[in-house]
Amino acid sequence: MLLQSEKHQKLFATPFFRFHFPEYSQLNAALLEEGRALRSKEEGVSKSNKGGWHSEGNLFSNSAAPIKVLNALATDAVVDATSTIGAKVDPKTLKLKLFAWMNINPTGGFNAPHTHPGAHWSGVYYVAQPEVEKGDSGMIEFLDPRSDLPNWRLLDVPSFKIKKKVRPMPGDLILFPSFLMHWVYPNEAEGERVTVAFNATFKKVDNSD
Ligand SMILES: [Fe+2]
Repeated sequence: MLLQSEKHQKLFATPFFRFHFPEYSQLNAALLEEGRALRSKEEGVSKSNKGGWHSEGNLFSNSAAPIKVLNALATDAVVDATSTIGAKVDPKTLKLKLFAWMNINPTGGFNAPHTHPGAHWSGVYYVAQPEVEKGDSGMIEFLDPRSDLPNWRLLDVPSFKIKKKVRPMPGDLILFPSFLMHWVYPNEAEGERVTVAFNATFKKVDNSD
């Protein structure tokens, strides 16, 4: 080649993070217990969950010990990811708010494709993910937010694939921009799939008073 290569950048790339909490087994057992208690008190709400239970209100307002631990882990993940992508966040002007809920998906339960409008980051912590020998049961799949790419699909480039699916394990926490369309494959396992999802939003601090 006669030209010197001077730059290769990724423009408009979508960040995706996966964290893991090594001491997850104790935390997850406590979260499952908390989930069972909440479920016996609340009917749950209907969102993107089909055939499952979705807790009411902000789970992170709950002061139970395992929920507080998870709130701290989720906050850490958001702060770490926000700094990794190079965002400039001054806590004096931008305040971070988290809103969480628990999903319990029985056999056959799934989450239809959706985004989380209005938030910056959305995340999912995995409490129970029943194992399956094969198939896509319980996998979360992300869809390319860019449009008009049929020609690029022909070239089989990893970063231009139309979708990307992942199978997080218990103790994993995934984090992605809230505009990213995603959905969850039906749970084909016998056990329940339990996750805590959250939205993280930076809001301008009102210094008027
Ligand atoms: Fe979601």
